[in-house]
Amino acid sequence: MKIFLDTAEIEEIKLAYSYGIIDGITTNPSLIRKAVEKRVATGQKIDLKNYIKEILRTARGTPVSLEVTETSAEGMIRQGRKLYKMFNPIAKNVVIKIPVNPTFNGNENEHFDGLKAIKKLSKERIPVNCTLIFTPEQALLAAKAGAKYVSPFAGRVDNYIRTQNKIKFEKPDYYPAEGMERKKELLNDNGIVSGVDLVAQCVQILEVHGLKTQVLAASLRNTRQVRESALVGAHVATLPLYVVEDLVKHPKTYEGMQGFTKDLVIEYMELLK
Ligand code: E4P
Repeated sequence: MKIFLDTAEIEEIKLAYSYGIIDGITTNPSLIRKAVEKRVATGQKIDLKNYIKEILRTARGTPVSLEVTETSAEGMIRQGRKLYKMFNPIAKNVVIKIPVNPTFNGNENEHFDGLKAIKKLSKERIPVNCTLIFTPEQALLAAKAGAKYVSPFAGRVDNYIRTQNKIKFEKPDYYPAEGMERKKELLNDNGIVSGVDLVAQCVQILEVHGLKTQVLAASLRNTRQVRESALVGAHVATLPLYVVEDLVKHPKTYEGMQGFTKDLVIEYMELLK
């Protein structure tokens, strides 16, 4: 499974790439906003065009998702082409992020505009990451439209199920992949019992139908979700930096290191000089 970093923070990107295990970047308008606001708050000026170019150069050889903001098919296609034309020449690693269904303002005509935009851009050989996937059937449609990646939002599904059922939680809290029972009833969102279950069902539906689209498990908030996404066959997981760093930690590893270091003999140290 590939590991992408879910951030628009250049320092985080540089640090994570230095670890040697990062395979790409995902951004979204909220992450870009965070990066801009952080700089504005400390009185720094940000030239966003150059800032994005620096991200692309740092991630050279690995894909970077940049998201459109329009909601009509024409608007998304125009922005997708613009982003690709402006930024892909820098390191040939731009992927355009398109929401599966951009409707939110009561414009019923826009339900299929995400799919239309995916189809058009994919036909033009612009790689697309279809975002905001909350059902396997959305993933199926996005794959049929030609998306290179589909991004099921696992963490947000867990939060949705918990919120609907008035279960208190903190953002990084683990939610069991097999779901939770309340009064003998398995909690679910239309047959999806957890975020990892959504990832698993997306993997399965694409596999069953021989579609080559990759499942990019997104909105992951803890290491167990990453492990479980890997076990159910996600091709990629995109993670905030703290989750990437948590993946390598265990108290017994620290303890073991302490023991080995304490046991060093002078002869061995001499040998390794
Ligand atoms: C994925 O591409 C998204 O940027 C991201 O994973 C969303 O995560 P969030 O639910 O933590 O905002």
